[in-house]
Amino acid sequence: MAFVNKFREKSGYRFSYEHSIYVDPDYINNGYGNKILKELIKICKKITKIKNLIAVIGGKNNFASIKIHKNNGFQYIGTIKKAGFKNNKWVDSIYMQKRL
Ligand SMILES: CC(C)(COP(=O)(O)OP(=O)(O)OC[C@H]1O[C@@H](n2cnc3c(N)ncnc32)[C@H](O)[C@@H]1OP(=O)(O)O)[C@@H](O)C(=O)NCCC(=O)NCCS
Repeated sequence: MAFVNKFREKSGYRFSYEHSIYVDPDYINNGYGNKILKELIKICKKITKIKNLIAVIGGKNNFASIKIHKNNGFQYIGTIKKAGFKNNKWVDSIYMQKRL
């Protein structure tokens, strides 16, 4: 599953979008995440208002997510420390970006 949302509501960010990808845990590490991301980029390229795709990845140990984004031309932008709180733990947000 994949979806794309506005990166921020403020008008100045209207050309930037954040996407998310989820693969069923029973099927991870079979290349599906990579394929979905490729297809998502292809679709987003056809939508002229999408100029930036931004991945906000939960945790520096999310190696699979970081890898599929690197494999598809995303660049590491930076990390917001302890931005999220999941499963009773603070989680960093890793930002990766691709200009379309
Ligand atoms: C992130 C996610 C979408 C990846 O999907 P996937 O189908 O497992 O990804 P793929 O099999 O296409 O690719 C995984 C890549 O990570 C690599 N990888 C996996 N685990 C790794 C690890 N522990 N260390 C280093 N690399 C690792 C694989 O080798 C592969 O890279 P390669 O194709 O260059 O060999 C999936 O793990 C998921 O749904 N995670 C939970 C939700 C999430 O974090 N989504 C991302 C938010 S944008």
